[in-house]
Amino acid sequence: MNPIEKIAVIGATGRLGAPVATELAKHFDVRAIVRSPDKAARMLPPHVEIVQGDLRDIPSLRAALAGMDAIYLNLATETADPGLPFYEERDGVRNLMTAATGLGIRYIAKIGALGAYPPALENIRNNMVPNLIRMEGHRIIADSGIPHSFFAPTHFMELLPNMIDGRALQWIGNTRVKVYWVSVADYARLVVGAFQNPAAMPEHCPVQGPEALSVRQAMEQFVRHYDPTLKIRVAPLWVIRLIGLFNPKMKFVAHLFAYFGNHEDPFYAEKTWKDLGRPTVTLRMFSESLRRTRPTARRAAASR
Ligand SMILES: NC(=O)c1ccc[n+]([C@@H]2O[C@H](COP(=O)([O-])OP(=O)(O)OC[C@H]3O[C@@H](n4cnc5c(N)ncnc54)[C@H](OP(=O)(O)O)[C@@H]3O)[C@@H](O)[C@H]2O)c1
Repeated sequence: MNPIEKIAVIGATGRLGAPVATELAKHFDVRAIVRSPDKAARMLPPHVEIVQGDLRDIPSLRAALAGMDAIYLNLATETADPGLPFYEERDGVRNLMTAATGLGIRYIAKIGALGAYPPALENIRNNMVPNLIRMEGHRIIADSGIPHSFFAPTHFMELLPNMIDGRALQWIGNTRVKVYWVSVADYARLVVGAFQNPAAMPEHCPVQGPEALSVRQAMEQFVRHYDPTLKIRVAPLWVIRLIGLFNPKMKFVAHLFAYFGNHEDPFYAEKTWKDLGRPTVTLRMFSESLRRTRPTARRAAASR
């Protein structure tokens, strides 16, 4: 296969999509296909080409994909409802594959999750709706016959700062489960490696970080090295479930954290590490580096 040069990224304005698109753009010509070009222009480096396109609109996708060698997908399914008529990770993917027909796309890579990694399924009780939906989307990509890889990451370290509310780092439910927290910086390097040598990539690629820590240990480390003034607060799952009876967003949050609290990671990533390199960022490194970018840390550095 000729080397891939031009990659279309869909979901480049996502929390995990923006850093991956930024890393890809250091090595490839990247075109971000986005719903909101203004938002994308604020988040992405200036040399990323930005084109309007929507997974609900096949002609917009077909026009935006012209001339591309490959596609990277960063899509999400944030609902506990299994009966919706349209999910980006299933129906959007179907539209995308229709749009891509005959355009000469040579490789597709997509972020999934460890809960959609086939060898992990036998250890999973009550899989969550997003994983069930995204596995249907993965089948649609596989059926297209275009070579593809599905990344299956565990929890990203970037979840932790998202869980800060006011002066507290929060979690919901069980904090004893251990997972191999991974940083988006390490993940983005793996994605670059995949596009550099797609012929060597497996269909499913588990992504795990360098050390297994329970949620409680990870929260303690994060607070110690990011901001020791933060309190750790853990809400009981039943409270969030109760709120979820009246609030669809909290219904999803309860669904997500029930799943998180029920599953810990066996180690699956040996082959990924061998083929694409070991992850290097520990939770301590991640927390310290984030600390240096905190507004108070920046002000202190400027006044020295
Ligand atoms: N966080 C973790 O620890 C973790 C672990 C494992 C797996 N994951 C998975 O990683 C994936 C990505 O997460 P994320 O946080 O980056 O998700 P996100 O922030 O919700 O990003 C979703 C992206 O999809 C785009 N999008 C939505 N609808 C679209 C449409 N109709 N047409 C075109 N683009 C559309 C959004 O664009 P707009 O900006 O226009 O909305 C956004 O760029 C998720 O599937 C998540 O489950 C996360």
